[in-house]
Amino acid sequence: MELIHESAGKKLYRDGDKLVKTFDESYSKAGILNEALNQARVEETGLNIPKVRAVTVVDGRWALIWDFIEGETLESLMQKHPEKEDEYLNFFVDLQIRMSKEKVPLLGHLRDKMHAKISASAYPATVRYDLHMRLDGLPRHVKLCHGDFQPSNVIITKDGTPFIIDWSHATQGNGSADAARTYLIFKLQGKDALAEKYLNLFCTKTDTAIQYVQRILPIVAASQSVKGKPEEQEFLAKWVNVCDWQ
Ligand SMILES: Nc1ncnc2c1ncn2[C@@H]1O[C@H](COP(=O)(O)OP(=O)(O)O)[C@@H](O)[C@H]1O
Ligand SMILES: [Mg+2]
Repeated sequence: MELIHESAGKKLYRDGDKLVKTFDESYSKAGILNEALNQARVEETGLNIPKVRAVTVVDGRWALIWDFIEGETLESLMQKHPEKEDEYLNFFVDLQIRMSKEKVPLLGHLRDKMHAKISASAYPATVRYDLHMRLDGLPRHVKLCHGDFQPSNVIITKDGTPFIIDWSHATQGNGSADAARTYLIFKLQGKDALAEKYLNLFCTKTDTAIQYVQRILPIVAASQSVKGKPEEQEFLAKWVNVCDWQ
């Protein structure tokens, strides 16, 4: 097995035509099995995603086995060809919109997940109350939401077919909340110009008011604060506290 990627507590290997994703003890069994179950559920939509092949234990670690997708991530393509940024971003937004047209009724609801995150956040009760109210005011949709839709989670094959990977945070809910989360991810990565361009493009293509997505930002920021890195907290708090004076 060849190690191809390493991130906090996770190691990904290639084993022929299979991808082996292993987790250390910091990941709960329920969380790992949920990632496999989400992925199996999304497989039924017919979207291009790696199929689940096995759930097993490798060297004492839980391991999820997917099809290995031969190709390059959109993130890597964007780094290599900065002159094609607009083209790639266009493709990225179209893919997100296509995904959000799918329905996966057995997935958990984004609304429930966000209420739970707000409750678990360290913000004062008054701020949490505002966030819960704001979330309750959001239209209830059942669109497929990825939860971590970003260019590193899209693999483009040689013939140009996009595969969406990494479904551990998938839910059903409001598609603009999924877009708000993508915007936040770009901002946290310091890609400010890309973030603005992304949000404008998403809003234009879906005929959504920017203010509508902006109203969701304090909620996604509060959700991120629960698991977020210490160095992100100041930035997130600024977004959450917008609630105070609006
Ligand atoms: N099925 C796959 N086929 C090929 N490469 C993959 C596959 N799954 C993941 N990768 C590669 O590993 C990287 C990390 O995988 P991912 O599942 O997104 O892990 P993480 O949860 O750490 O983000 C991806 O960006 C991609 O480069
Ligand atoms: Mg990923």
